[in-house]
Amino acid sequence: MLSKYKILRILILFILLGGRIIAQSNRVVSNSTERDWLDTSGMPINAHGGGILYHEGTYYWYGEYKSGKTTLLPGQNWECYRTDVSGVSCYSSKDLLNWKFEGLVLKGMPGNTHNDLHPSNVLERPKVIYNSKTKKFVMWMHIDTADYSKACAGVAVCDTPTGEFKYLGSQRPHKAMSRDQTIYKDEDGRAYQIFSSEDNATLYISELTNDYLGHKETYTRNFENKFREAPAIFKTNNKYVLVTSGCSAWNPNEAEYAIADSILGKWTVIGNPCTGKDADKTFYGQSTFILPVAGKNKYYIAMFDKWEKTDLEKSKYIWLPILIIDEGKIEIPWKDSLIIK
Ligand code: DGJ
Repeated sequence: MLSKYKILRILILFILLGGRIIAQSNRVVSNSTERDWLDTSGMPINAHGGGILYHEGTYYWYGEYKSGKTTLLPGQNWECYRTDVSGVSCYSSKDLLNWKFEGLVLKGMPGNTHNDLHPSNVLERPKVIYNSKTKKFVMWMHIDTADYSKACAGVAVCDTPTGEFKYLGSQRPHKAMSRDQTIYKDEDGRAYQIFSSEDNATLYISELTNDYLGHKETYTRNFENKFREAPAIFKTNNKYVLVTSGCSAWNPNEAEYAIADSILGKWTVIGNPCTGKDADKTFYGQSTFILPVAGKNKYYIAMFDKWEKTDLEKSKYIWLPILIIDEGKIEIPWKDSLIIK
């Protein structure tokens, strides 16, 4: 016969074990910035200002590989913190939880100071899309000099998602400055670059050529003199939804979103999508990408960087679910953790 005491112990064990199993089966990403997000080898994930490509059953997360000392460039009228260019990292995952480091798919190039990828320059916000006609993976990124005066868009290409990408060079699209940027591949296969231009005052949206390696003549100027940065875009209910940040260097500010029937505009500003504590500061993050989760209806993850401006390598990530209200109206509520469905 089991004593009452033994039964109680078994019951407690069962409850504890049960609880643990439930916790393990929850596919949770923590937005606490106390701890690093680790890759499958136990190293902190280093992919800032990044974006995710879903290709043939695998997610590929590309981002700025920030390593080494953060320095403040003297003589600027803004807080110009930077790290040397190391390159663009890539992590792969089947489940958005376990990320395998695939290495640097585009590497910094010490040696020739005139090379865009020289460590003394700036490489930010890389994004990759796949061209199903050319069967190439195309990466666009913000290329700059240390004082951010070059303001160019760089492009690289590869036959495989995990590199090594071949750098093709940089340019000012439409002879206009290009800084914070993202790229978007539409359902019809057309692709667009969205970038802060005119000294960050106006956001350009420009159609890429059919091979995605250059720009067509078509482009629009949006949010004129509104100084929007950090563009992240997705499409729902036949509406394009564009989330941007304000312009305050590495410091957090209020996000804003706009909707449009056509990607080239006209855009209607709706307001701040963030709700909850610190929503007026984008939860101390800054938008970088919006991921439609494969095979899920209306499940979008908004990805933010939480910059650590004096030690950029230590910057963290925030991932939040997007609530679709209706007609392209959205909300991004704060959550301590995101459950990956
Ligand atoms: C804000 C941008 O969003 C970042 O990508 C970076 O360029 C910083 N400015 C530099 O201060």
